Amino acid sequence: MNRHPISLRRHGRAATRTIVLVAVLVAGLAAALFLSNRGRKAKWPDPVRTATAVGDSTCISCHRDKASFEGTAHRLTMQHPSRATMAGHFGSGENVLRTPNPNLYFHMDADSAGFTQTAVLRNGRDSTTRTERVALVSGIRKGQSYLYWAGNRLYQLPISYWAALGKWINSPGYVDGSMNFDRGISPRCFECHSTWINQVMDPGASNRYDSTGMILGITCERCHGAGQEHVARERSTLRAMNGPAIVNPARLSRQRQMDACAQCHGGLGQPIAPTFSYVAGRPLDRYLTLDSLPLTATVDVHGNQVALLTRSRCYRESQMTCITCHDVHQTQRDTKVLSGRCLACHQEQSCKLFPKEGHALKGRCVDCHMPLQESNLIVSGLEGKEEKALVRTHWIRVWPDSARR
Ligand code: HEC
Ligand code: HEC
Ligand code: HEC
Ligand code: HEC
Ligand code: HEC
Ligand code: HEC
Ligand code: HEC
Repeated sequence: MNRHPISLRRHGRAATRTIVLVAVLVAGLAAALFLSNRGRKAKWPDPVRTATAVGDSTCISCHRDKASFEGTAHRLTMQHPSRATMAGHFGSGENVLRTPNPNLYFHMDADSAGFTQTAVLRNGRDSTTRTERVALVSGIRKGQSYLYWAGNRLYQLPISYWAALGKWINSPGYVDGSMNFDRGISPRCFECHSTWINQVMDPGASNRYDSTGMILGITCERCHGAGQEHVARERSTLRAMNGPAIVNPARLSRQRQMDACAQCHGGLGQPIAPTFSYVAGRPLDRYLTLDSLPLTATVDVHGNQVALLTRSRCYRESQMTCITCHDVHQTQRDTKVLSGRCLACHQEQSCKLFPKEGHALKGRCVDCHMPLQESNLIVSGLEGKEEKALVRTHWIRVWPDSARR
């Protein structure tokens, strides 16, 4: 009969053990949940791919104030050809480009199937022709260049369009007056002008691609990272517990903010990681070695705003980044408005010309201190003459002759 208490005590011990065990288990589970949740919170988005892209319309369904992005040059920089996207003229009299070679000319044509470029090379009484069909259109502001497929290889077409002249021109990089269609399109070209293309690996050729699942132009997720996880979190009832899982460049350090633009605005550089692996917020120098340019080297005004801006005293003596002046979600071409950004740090009175010019300087800071300059990289042939594009320099300084602008 005295077994009972013992058994009870035994029972009691077992119960305590179970309780402790359960408590430990629960605590462990909670810790694991907490940790995994922290892991989720800290999750940095992956680079965007066809399978993980949610697409701009989904982003805009919640972020309506960013809808203006759809009309920007970033968004439209690579598109399929259509009447709406082709800037060049196809009417008779406007669709022929003669070259310095009297035996060679090109004609550009539009038909129900699309757009073509044809080279005609006369050889005595014979002539050789070659026709290729426009597959992709790059560029939207100053000019356009066109790409064509040969099998699964992508090439640039020999004739581009220049908006300032309103004319067809020899594509930059092709020797004017030759019947050549051989410039392959490297993946880096897409890295700067698009969101994703799947490269088909071939040690012999770097211009093979899978034409399905391309994400053309620069979309929200190219700068912010793949959005699936962010969207899932924002739609879930537990959203308050989780971090946003999307990159907001405004929260990055100054250097990482610069990196986010420098992947495309810092020059060609040398890739040291596969194309399309960089996501904003990561250190760019682990993906790409930008050409380091000594202060004395000439930097072309085309495509390297980073090298030019970082030379400026404004940049070196402040915390300025690209987003001090630019809101990439809208088109900003009004230099009067952009001159207003100078006044975040300067006053009209800071200009040495103020005593003479007074308030007439207002809205014109950019004209004199960031003038348009000729690019030596974008040089094209037009009827044997060299044509250079005008690009806005980002070296903010007192330029010689600027007092007279
Ligand atoms: C279901 C609605 C919804 C969708 C869809 C959505 N977002 Fe958001 N997003 C939000 C809300 C709400 C916030 C603010 C909540 C927060 O800061 O945690 C936010 C915050 C952000 C932020 C700021 C994050 C930060 O750390 O400050 C960025 C950037 C962003 N979204 C980009 C995107 C992009 C890009 C897409 C498309 C891939 C997208 N969003 C799709 C609702 C949405
Ligand atoms: C390192 C990034 C980078 C690479 C690589 C690159 N571009 Fe660009 N491209 C830019 C930037 C940035 C601009 C606009 C800024 C500027 O002109 O300074 C531009 C401008 C252009 C323009 C003029 C656009 C317009 O609207 O006026 C065309 C056309 C163009 N690129 C085509 C190409 C093609 C085709 C390739 C590949 C063969 C290529 N680019 C490779 C970054 C790049
Ligand atoms: C070329 C890169 C780039 C692209 C493309 C881009 N953004 Fe941004 N985004 C930025 C930068 C830089 C910032 C931080 C500075 C700022 O707010 O402008 C930002 C900030 C944001 C923010 C947080 C700040 C705020 O204003 O709420 C949201 C949300 C956002 N972007 C949504 C979008 C959406 C949606 C799209 C596509 C429709 C998009 N972004 C396309 C670069 C980009
Ligand atoms: C994925 C590559 C890429 C990234 C990232 C990128 N840009 Fe661009 N940007 C381009 C290209 C390409 C163009 C030229 C588009 C065209 O005209 O066809 C361009 C054009 C521009 C223009 C001229 C737009 C106009 O309408 O005149 C500005 C300004 C600009 N970028 C600023 C920025 C800033 C600031 C950042 C960083 C927040 C940034 N870009 C990030 C590729 C990029
Ligand atoms: C983020 C702050 C900031 C912004 C924005 C800014 N600057 Fe500056 N800038 C400075 C600082 C700091 C200096 C160096 C000290 C000084 O001269 O005040 C400077 C210097 C200059 C100089 C003298 C350059 C030299 O080489 O001696 C000029 C000219 C100038 N800025 C013009 C401009 C113009 C024009 C704009 C707008 C396009 C502008 N700045 C925007 C901060 C800024
Ligand atoms: C002090 C203000 C300021 C800063 C900072 C700034 N920009 Fe600009 N940016 C301008 C102005 C002004 C224009 C001229 C707009 C126009 O003429 O359409 C411009 C034009 C551009 C263009 C178009 C160039 C062309 O010739 O069409 C690109 C690309 C660009 N900026 C990229 C950048 C990038 C990338 C950064 C950071 C490295 C940057 N900007 C920093 C003021 C600035
Ligand atoms: C008509 C051309 C012109 C315009 C417009 C102009 N500047 Fe200047 N700026 C100059 C010249 C030229 C100098 C150098 C004069 C000298 O050193 O004698 C100068 C000098 C400066 C300096 C350097 C002062 C120093 O300490 O060395 C700053 C800062 C500056 N300007 C800012 C601005 C701002 C901000 C605006 C717009 C409100 C502006 N400028 C508009 C031509 C111009």
